[in-house]
Amino acid sequence: MTDVMAPTSLPCATVAENAALTATFFAPSLLRGTITSVGAGHTLTTRLDTLRRAQRLMAGLRSRYGGAVLVRGPGGPTLLVLGREQVRRVLTAPDDLFSLASPEKVNGLGPFLEGTLLLSSGPPREDRRGFVTRVLEEPTLRARFAAVAREEAATLVPGVLTYPALNECWNRVARRCLYGDGARDLTELSTLLADLRRAGNWLGLRQGRQRELSARYDALILRELARSEPGSLAGAVASQPHPASACPVRQAAFWLMGFTVPPPGLMQALALLAARGPADPRAALLEGLRLWAPVPALMRTVTSDTSWEGARLPKGTSVLIPLILHQRDPALPYADRFAPEIWLDGTAEREWLIAPFSRGPGQCKGMNLALHVGAAFLGEVVRLARVRGPYLPEPLPLMLDTLRLRLVLEAR
Ligand code: HEM
Repeated sequence: MTDVMAPTSLPCATVAENAALTATFFAPSLLRGTITSVGAGHTLTTRLDTLRRAQRLMAGLRSRYGGAVLVRGPGGPTLLVLGREQVRRVLTAPDDLFSLASPEKVNGLGPFLEGTLLLSSGPPREDRRGFVTRVLEEPTLRARFAAVAREEAATLVPGVLTYPALNECWNRVARRCLYGDGARDLTELSTLLADLRRAGNWLGLRQGRQRELSARYDALILRELARSEPGSLAGAVASQPHPASACPVRQAAFWLMGFTVPPPGLMQALALLAARGPADPRAALLEGLRLWAPVPALMRTVTSDTSWEGARLPKGTSVLIPLILHQRDPALPYADRFAPEIWLDGTAEREWLIAPFSRGPGQCKGMNLALHVGAAFLGEVVRLARVRGPYLPEPLPLMLDTLRLRLVLEAR
């Protein structure tokens, strides 16, 4: 990739192909919620099996145009990335050229996420990256966080586990890890965050409401950070020297949102373990995240004119990697089955189509933390309970109505 203007133009999808993409991929994504999940939208799109049609359509586009094609996305011209090599190229590109601050995130989460690493660029991004990585990778907190996860997981057994129940339990884990035991029952924080994310759906049409909620949320975060409880990330923030540009309050506000991603992965992993029998908890969680990706697409925005495979890729173009389909690419021998072994033998690591936490400079900075705490949580549930769940036939369905799953946890 260079900044030389190239003479040829990118392959473009036809009007009919764009209409089909909108019907099978973009509109269903809106219905399911771009920033947070909408229950009814999930049920409807799962019943209609919209992704199956999108999968066929994208396979057709790949054979017609190759590894990337320009389409019309909800936010304008979008490079739809379909090939493995092209995925690798986008994810390993410098993040000041292919920026993570895509219009969907800025519009959907802007007022709430201003100053966070995800939406930063230039020198402030470097300061924030260093600070966030040091705090989230703090090794002395790991044993305590695993103990918190085990303690909360044990409260679920015995019982019927619904998604809202798992979510509530996990939110307690999140608040204790982030702000300490004093925040265990501070449910208002999680409710405010859920309201903020709901307001972020629909391409940011509710920014006024978001600003109001954001002010209340920030006030709570400030109060919790000021307590800097030892044994929590808030305590680590207080003891970590950082430049003012690191904006610790904005980063800490974002971390609670990072902690909202694991619950679908955990619920799906438990359903898989119930249907398929025991497996390594970390690998099971990763399979939960691969098979029904809670972050369905990786989005970038091109910050200056560049070239792409000999063609001109103009500034402002969106770039979309449909992770939710790539991780189920029919060419992968394990596409539609529970395959925890791929996370243990290096197979998943070598495969660029699989990236539940993204890869390269934009990779999730909470990945190790989320996997550590999530695996401890899962491990404890299966240690204490025999899990019974719905019949999951193989090949596994492309869509799962996770928010309506019910599992039975029978004490061992
Ligand atoms: C299963 C759990 C999680 C998954 C699957 C996940 C996934 C992701 C993905 C895909 C991205 C990149 C987004 C993009 O490319 O646009 C990301 C970014 C990020 N995540 Fe996570 N995440 C998880 C949990 C967490 C947690 C618990 C935290 C913090 C406590 C966190 C902190 C971050 C941060 C700070 C970024 C921004 C990275 C950057 O701008 O370089 N994540 N995450």
